[in-house]
Amino acid sequence: MKWDFLVDEAVKVKEHAYVPYSGFRVGAAVLTHSEKIYTGCNVENASYGAAICAERVAVTKAVSEGETLIKAIAVTGDSDDIVFPCGICRQVLTEFCNSETVIICSNKKGEYREYKMEDILPHPFSKADLNI
Ligand code: THU
Repeated sequence: MKWDFLVDEAVKVKEHAYVPYSGFRVGAAVLTHSEKIYTGCNVENASYGAAICAERVAVTKAVSEGETLIKAIAVTGDSDDIVFPCGICRQVLTEFCNSETVIICSNKKGEYREYKMEDILPHPFSKADLNI
């Protein structure tokens, strides 16, 4: 299907997930507007709150390379159910997505559904809310 190539990248990077505490592996692959792909997996820590989600690893890799507009992001995890980005990741994603961005949520079999940012985070807090 259309987004298989991006889901495949998310499935591949999930192998690198560092998850000694939850055992729940997540992979994410960001396709930027300049057609580059940045991948990320979740990275946990003995100080549990210091864990970083796969989506934020992938997004920060892209942004740190100067890529600030996401065309699509695929997310997958060790679940029979489709994995959606957590609340913090939705907030981070909204900073770098627009109304065209495709959010591809997949399960461990690689089956996926497509969403828009607005579907997963309606009424976002954004830079427009900051009167600066
Ligand atoms: N996790 C992600 O990587 N992305 C999400 O959107 C949901 C949660 C990770 C964090 C933690 O390492 C594990 O999944 C269990 O919560």
